Amino acid sequence: MELKWALLLLGLFLESSESRGCNIGYERKNNICVDTNECAPALSVCGDHSNCFNTDGSYHCTCKEGFQSAPPIFTATTGDCRDINECLAETQTCSSDMNCVNTIGSYECICPPGYRKTRTDSGCEDVDECLSSVCGVHSSCINTPGSFQCICSSGFLKHENGTCADINECSKGQDVCGTNGICNNNVGSYSCKCHEGYSNYGNDRSKCIEMSCDHFEVESDTKDVPVKLKHLLALLKSSCESLRDPNGGHQKGEELLENVFTSTDELLSEGNIADGATLSHFLDAVENSMRLIGPQLKEPLTRIETHNTFAEVAVMRSQAPPSGRVTLNTDPALFKTSWETVVGNSYPGFAFAALVSYKELNSSADLLQKMSREKSDDKERNVTYLLSSKVVTAVVSNAETKQLSEPVTLIFTHVEERAESEDMSYSCVYWDEAEGAWSGRGCERAWSNSTHTECSCSHLSSFAVLMALYPVQDTLELLMITRVGLALSLVCLFLCILTFKFCRSIQGTRTSIHLHLSICLFIADLVFLCGISSTQNKVGCSIVAGLLHFFFLSAFCWMLLEGVQLYRMVVLVFHTTIKHLYMYLVGYGVPLVIVSTSAIAYPKGYGTDRHCWLSLDFIWSFFAPVCIIVVLNSFVFIITVWKLAEKFSSLNPDLSKLRNIRGFTVTAMAQLCVLGGMWVFGCFLFQEKGTQVALYLFTILNSLQGALLFVLHCLLSKAVRDEYCKLITRICSLKEMYSEFSTNQSSNSQQPLRSDQTTGESKI
Ligand SMILES: *[C@@H]1O[C@H](CO)[C@@H](O)[C@H](O)[C@H]1NC(C)=O
Ligand SMILES: *[C@@H]1O[C@H](CO)[C@@H](O)[C@H](O)[C@H]1NC(C)=O
Ligand SMILES: *[C@@H]1O[C@H](CO)[C@@H](O)[C@H](O)[C@H]1NC(C)=O
Repeated sequence: MELKWALLLLGLFLESSESRGCNIGYERKNNICVDTNECAPALSVCGDHSNCFNTDGSYHCTCKEGFQSAPPIFTATTGDCRDINECLAETQTCSSDMNCVNTIGSYECICPPGYRKTRTDSGCEDVDECLSSVCGVHSSCINTPGSFQCICSSGFLKHENGTCADINECSKGQDVCGTNGICNNNVGSYSCKCHEGYSNYGNDRSKCIEMSCDHFEVESDTKDVPVKLKHLLALLKSSCESLRDPNGGHQKGEELLENVFTSTDELLSEGNIADGATLSHFLDAVENSMRLIGPQLKEPLTRIETHNTFAEVAVMRSQAPPSGRVTLNTDPALFKTSWETVVGNSYPGFAFAALVSYKELNSSADLLQKMSREKSDDKERNVTYLLSSKVVTAVVSNAETKQLSEPVTLIFTHVEERAESEDMSYSCVYWDEAEGAWSGRGCERAWSNSTHTECSCSHLSSFAVLMALYPVQDTLELLMITRVGLALSLVCLFLCILTFKFCRSIQGTRTSIHLHLSICLFIADLVFLCGISSTQNKVGCSIVAGLLHFFFLSAFCWMLLEGVQLYRMVVLVFHTTIKHLYMYLVGYGVPLVIVSTSAIAYPKGYGTDRHCWLSLDFIWSFFAPVCIIVVLNSFVFIITVWKLAEKFSSLNPDLSKLRNIRGFTVTAMAQLCVLGGMWVFGCFLFQEKGTQVALYLFTILNSLQGALLFVLHCLLSKAVRDEYCKLITRICSLKEMYSEFSTNQSSNSQQPLRSDQTTGESKI
């Protein structure tokens, strides 16, 4: 600097000879004083990083951008420009994830190592170092923010120099293959070759465990094992043997599963499972097949659905035993447990859980009834059991499933939506192979609603939900009404029979019809009173049901005959009697044909577990004829009433006769209404959900119909009343005669009472 100033002064001095007479800052050129350009580059009066501005007679300096000096505008004597550290200033524009670096006269924004600027320069982004293979073989690269990591693949270990080297699993003194297999190390892995009789189910890196194929043996002495089941067992056995053979190739698990389920399907669709022993065999075979196939499946979750079966299998393979929950879901049921329960005490390197549902596995009624042995009060109450869910089999790799440490959960979907009620309850059961029956031991019901039941079971096997139907408890009062009513009915009907049979003044076709109607109702009521609930004796019960079927139908037929007879009385003037043969043919023949046809076609329909009456699916063999008869009869009545009206309005109506017939018709219609109405309620009565009201109405109408018949046909009929009076008087006079005879022996001149004075009734 000193030098610069010295040079400047020297220059000015040298020029002074010529610029003499000019002020400072001017120089003489051609004898004129002109301004000196101090900013000429040769002079560089302002120093570095500055801008020089020449003015008239002087100059000044400013710093360039990025530099500063003490006074912002200066001349050579005052100072020079120094770099500004912009990174310290508020005005720097680097984003927060960038580093600010000061440079001479400026600054730069730089991303930290492992990051680079984004395209738009707005910030920094991570560089994925794994895109270029930086890690070498047998290792995998994991990108991290700003960096990356190399992890050795399983089966390899990181060497000191950073490369991954194979681990020799076989040499470590760990028995990775168990004591029953030979370990072979290979690069990055190993495999176990099992000794004969042991297997790791195709899982090369699992321990070899003992394997027996004996349970797929068909015992030669059991003859009644269905052929299809034998085929299934043979298939499983050969597959099992090939697994045991260390040199044998074996089928893939998925293929085997499909084969087994195809066989199972065939077996089920033929309805082969008839008895307990076969059912045990079958369920056993399914369980063992799942134990065989489960470990061979490659996918973590396999689902298979065929026509008759639905299965889900979950498989886990890992060095350490798995933990956590496992849930398997097929439409008919849900199976929930924990992997700890599935694994049990020994873990060979794999674990599986399977749930198999059978869509159409019907357990016959006998098998279900065995349940009742367990609960003695059920037997007394005559409880009926039905399967209300599909049957499912739950299998896990743990072989010790008799007593689980933690209960498993099964949620069943009911086949039919139905809420529990007084006469129905759900219970959880399993198939007890030893007993050959369904059993509730070790299975608790957690809850039920109308569509689902949850079961909690402390062992594993095949499960289902049973529906127990309790008989409707006939209340005492209802029983009393029935008994008393029926007794009253029987007495009245008996009186009717006597009257119709012996009352001479009213003999005729209608009376014959009434007689047979009364007989039918009398027998039906008697049988009903004595036999309706004698369900213990199956044959007796069927006979009771048959008799009731016959006599009630017969009663309806006789009522139809009465309708027809009334019609004839209106329309025909003479020959109004019907031949007895024809009457019997309709009155007894028709019901006989119906009952015998029904009995031959479906003998099981007679007698149920709760009543000696027709079973529900068969009730139409009664109601259909009844409906037809009632409709026919109503039709006949309508025609009769119409004809009657016509006659009343004819020229000379025979008024007394017509009034009589009108009376009879009304009576007959009332009777049809009572008997028909009774069976309308009866319709509901034998249904499972029979309402209390229908039950009462049926019982009351049934009890009263005998009394009604007696009132309508005997007490309301003048002829019959007269006959009764005659009879009573005769009895009285006999007494009188006897007393008179004994005292006086005077002759009695009493006339037989108005025997000629008969009403028109008997003549018709
Ligand atoms: C690292 O060490 C292993 C074992 O000593 C050796 O085989 C390998 O060649 C080494 N790798 C490098 C890159 O030095
Ligand atoms: C099983 O029962 C259901 C309903 O109860 C019936 O539809 C089906 O035909 C039965 N299947 C066999 C094989 O008996
Ligand atoms: C019964 O319970 C199950 C499970 O909680 C539920 O999904 C279903 O809707 C319930 N059904 C009824 C009728 O409430």
